[in-house]
Amino acid sequence: MKVKNICCIGAGYVGGPTMSVIAYKCPDIKVNIVDLNAERIAAWNDEDVNNIPVYEPGLSDIVAAARGKNLFFSTDVEKAIEEADMIFISVNTPTKTYGVGKGMAADLKYIELCARQIAAVAKSDKIVVEKSTLPVRTAEAVKNILENTGNGVKFQILSNPEFLAEGTAVDDLLNPDRVLVGGDTTPEGQEAMNALVEVYANWIPKDRILTTNVWSSELSKLTANAFLAQRVSSINAISELCERTGADVNEVARAIGTDSRIGPKFLKASVGFGGSCFQKDILNLVYIARTYGLTEVADYWEQVIIMNDHQKRRFASNIVKTLYNTVSGKKIAFLGWAFKKDTNDTRESAAIYVADDLLNEQAGIAVYDPKVEEEAIYRDMDYLATRGSSVNRKGITVYTDPYEACRDAHAIAILTEWDEFKGYDWQRIYDNMKKPAFVFDGRNILDSDQLQKIGFIVSSIGK
Ligand code: UDX
Ligand code: ADP
Repeated sequence: MKVKNICCIGAGYVGGPTMSVIAYKCPDIKVNIVDLNAERIAAWNDEDVNNIPVYEPGLSDIVAAARGKNLFFSTDVEKAIEEADMIFISVNTPTKTYGVGKGMAADLKYIELCARQIAAVAKSDKIVVEKSTLPVRTAEAVKNILENTGNGVKFQILSNPEFLAEGTAVDDLLNPDRVLVGGDTTPEGQEAMNALVEVYANWIPKDRILTTNVWSSELSKLTANAFLAQRVSSINAISELCERTGADVNEVARAIGTDSRIGPKFLKASVGFGGSCFQKDILNLVYIARTYGLTEVADYWEQVIIMNDHQKRRFASNIVKTLYNTVSGKKIAFLGWAFKKDTNDTRESAAIYVADDLLNEQAGIAVYDPKVEEEAIYRDMDYLATRGSSVNRKGITVYTDPYEACRDAHAIAILTEWDEFKGYDWQRIYDNMKKPAFVFDGRNILDSDQLQKIGFIVSSIGK
């Protein structure tokens, strides 16, 4: 079977870039991306391609090349489902905020809604592909819903987890280390898998397209993220020890990273990892392990999260301690709010939690981020409130000029590793700050010797 028409439900950070690249690389396949959120769809359709809602280097060019030809964005979910022979589910699966598994398990209500909608609308056989990160055995639930509520048409369920990292999504999609496709071992399952493999084979060498059973594919995604996050927590744990012993975490990372068994990537000490995947997926893994009664397995992986929470908290408390044990009424400038550079995504960004701690100490926070919109920052504070924080939007001011954000500040905290921060006129920033002027480099990107020469008091992670 050859795929001719793809529908993707969910036009977010995963669905948007992934489908744009598929459309761009497969001109013979019509790709419809649909979403309930009309504002988001309007932004994807914005005449000025620079206004698309997801910021990713290179993405606007890809969208410009394919949009209106074989790539379409719309809110008409039913029509797109009906037309498609392959449907990707790319909706969000946040951590549950209520009921059983609160704070741990993935909330699958959006997935279930999608499955029910597909079942209600489909009049011909479909291949349904799970793109969102899901707990292992979700495909079973999706299959149940499709088979029991559908109109008697046949569905094949595949798992095709996304491994793109935000900020490098286009590169990761164009040139992935691997693509993973999981499916049933039945002949129909194999045929569905082949259909998806052929889509990717339009631009990816076949030896990089791995096929497995559905459960391996689902669990591999959680495991990959758990391993990556574990590396960050491991180096962050060592960063605290470095600060006490006179070792330098950058030197330690370089020294261990040259061992080919360890490797150099994902060893950057930081204020803590963020993003929509790491924390959610590990919590998920922990929850699944606990539901099977695997206490040691659950505790082992939970420690990665505990370490990350500690790292964020430690960064905030170091600011308070260094500023003579009080930040009340002081202005702290945050450079960066996104969870990493080259994205406008702020989900689970360390900045949110550091801000929370400092606001509780009655600091005033001035935020500058090159790509994050003001309203997104305020929404993050509202989100904190839903998680029990007493602080709110008050106390945060968002700036569009970094020099103004830093004017009269007592301290600057670097929360995101945006390249542009390195090129700032740091002398000018220093001249306009309260003295002594402090810099807390949560990403170890600035030249601390140079800053110290200007007169800053610099605190870096793991030094
Ligand atoms: C991650 C996985 O990398 C990707 O394969 C998966 O599909 C989704 O989850 P993402 O969350 O977009 O991608 O970004 P990633 O580059 O993994 O960074 C996650 C967080 O870890 C960021 O906050 C980043 O700043 C932090 N990090 C990463 C470090 O603190 N140090 C490092 O060495 C690497
Ligand atoms: P991700 O990072 O996984 O892409 P996002 O939150 O950026 O997550 O995107 C998920 C998108 O899925 C959102 O834009 C949301 O509106 C959309 N969505 C959720 N449920 C449905 C549904 N039943 N039908 C259509 N779109 C949906």
